[in-house]
Amino acid sequence: MNGAAVALMGIDGSGKSTLSGALGEALREAGYRVVTADWQDNLRQPDALPSISYEQMCAEYWRLLFAGMQVAGERLDRRIPRVFGPEMVSSSFVDVPPGATVEGARPSGLLGSAMVEFLMDYMLQSDIVVPARLRGDIALSDGFGFKSMAKKLMLTREVALRHGGLPDEVLVTLLDFARSAYASSYLQPDIGIFLDVDPATSYARIVRRGGGVGLTEDLRLAGRTGRESYLELQSLLAEEYAARADAWGWHVIRAGERAPDDVAREGVGLVLDLLSVRNR
Ligand SMILES: Nc1ncnc2c1ncn2[C@@H]1O[C@H](COP(=O)(O)OP(=O)(O)OP(=O)(O)O)[C@@H](O)[C@H]1O
Ligand SMILES: [Mg+2]
Repeated sequence: MNGAAVALMGIDGSGKSTLSGALGEALREAGYRVVTADWQDNLRQPDALPSISYEQMCAEYWRLLFAGMQVAGERLDRRIPRVFGPEMVSSSFVDVPPGATVEGARPSGLLGSAMVEFLMDYMLQSDIVVPARLRGDIALSDGFGFKSMAKKLMLTREVALRHGGLPDEVLVTLLDFARSAYASSYLQPDIGIFLDVDPATSYARIVRRGGGVGLTEDLRLAGRTGRESYLELQSLLAEEYAARADAWGWHVIRAGERAPDDVAREGVGLVLDLLSVRNR
């Protein structure tokens, strides 16, 4: 069988991980070997990668992301140990309460974390995705790297408007760079799926899930929080992702207001069909 990279893109809470779970299961049942193309997952399998560099980059990714941020006067980057620990594959170890006011976010830190993540994406491509494809396996990503990079750059922009020090034109240039880097045949998947969900719908799902909106899912770092700030950021992103999906010839699943099983049926059907065409 021909291997393939399959990637999903969509705003926060659009159902990427849910669909990715269903896809992984269906693909394995259909006889494919599936690996997840996600650096956080691969940190859990330390032999798979140049693991020490990955671990260090992961620690620095968080340190940069949280650089300067304070909750009730305590600096959050100080909570991040110098040495990588397995709890660091998720940001929850920093333990920022959902409603807490976070002060002092710095454009430099947000930008730095975006660039570290970008580098990790290139490494993941060469260490996981390309070898999987060559072996005839499926590399499955539940968040195409552009999704996260574009989000961080837009957040950086909002924080920089308040903070200063990083001119808007720099961020416009970097967003253009991200668009073209992720358009390259090296980073593009064989099958790309954009989950088109209205931000109001995904907001309702996040609220239902409980635990609150994530630190980088609304404009909390730029001093605004609540439903309106989630909708403001995610609407910008929804528009950006839709435009990229269109330019890159990705498949679109209109996934708003539909049951997860229904979305999974469409996604699984689409991917299995496309793979069988590739194998003909
Ligand atoms: N079609 C759906 N209808 C209703 N709820 C859904 C649907 N798909 C997913 N959910 C629920 O919405 C929440 C977000 O889904 P999921 O985690 O899959 O989204 P995501 O795009 O991976 O989000 P993130 O960007 O935060 O990783 C979860 O609680 C999930 O159970
Ligand atoms: Mg997810």
